[in-house]
Amino acid sequence: MYLKVVGSAAGGGFPQWNCNFHLSRDARKVTENIRPRTQSSLAASADEARWVLFNASPDIRQQIAATPELQPAENAPPRSTPICAVVLTNADVDHIAGLLSLRERERFVIYATARVLAVLAQNAIFNVVDPVLAERRELKLHEVSPILDWQNRPTGISVEAFAVPGKIALFLEDQTKAEQGFGTEEGDTIGLKIMSEDAKSDVFYIPGCARIDGNLRHRLDRASCLLFDGTVYTDDEMLTSGVGTKTGQRMGHLHISGDNGSMRALADLQIGRRIYVHINNTNPILDDHSPEAAAVRQGGWEIGYDGMEIRL
Ligand code: MLT
Ligand code: MN
Repeated sequence: MYLKVVGSAAGGGFPQWNCNFHLSRDARKVTENIRPRTQSSLAASADEARWVLFNASPDIRQQIAATPELQPAENAPPRSTPICAVVLTNADVDHIAGLLSLRERERFVIYATARVLAVLAQNAIFNVVDPVLAERRELKLHEVSPILDWQNRPTGISVEAFAVPGKIALFLEDQTKAEQGFGTEEGDTIGLKIMSEDAKSDVFYIPGCARIDGNLRHRLDRASCLLFDGTVYTDDEMLTSGVGTKTGQRMGHLHISGDNGSMRALADLQIGRRIYVHINNTNPILDDHSPEAAAVRQGGWEIGYDGMEIRL
């Protein structure tokens, strides 16, 4: 299986258009220790010819331009794409807005949970990607789903979707249900186990996760590779950076560091490679030379970057 981190930043990207925090300021200069990053997306392929895209970020046009694997093949028809399917892990704007750029009457398949498909159905603008041509198929939780192209030919990639603690998309939050997760229901945020038919490797892709419980630990033990929510290093980082008022928890993201962070929660598990993705522009691990980046690497984690390739 081949994987490519297409976008390693969280919503807003890095630098974010209106961010004046020192990390975004530094990312606007060309420095060796801070790389700019586009918004959250991953591509997987069993044959390096046909690709499954996980999440469609607002940066997708730029991402395809930077990723030859996702461009039409030289000998392909006048309109063509190697992207056979797009699988969504939630309805956050950083994961669905890129669908709008995949219009132009191309045939591919969109896979998502019933909850996320309902968001697309309720927002008529997504009809610019004609559902007759880009069929929407439901991903059932706890089932292994082969990802098929529009002609129902296997891509060689399968996924198993499972619910993870998370939150409904920010733009759908119901303020009258603040105590009940702002209206969050099962299927609003999922993790995916990504498998290829031939290989024995299994990859977990979980770009948004609010909590690590026993179930999730059990699931992740002995995985070949984990790409996990690296939004914030500390829970109150948006506040201490002076850029916002929300904690990681309030946004549905578990922080990396400390006794209750994801590094500690997963430290004793056997996982082949562990990689943080969906990194927010306030997270100090974005600076390769920071003590926080060193601590993450010391903990056995890699820090995802755009264009990062993983072969399993
Ligand atoms: C998130 O991951 O919390 C969301 O993508 C935030 C957003 O809506 O930009
Ligand atoms: Mn996000």
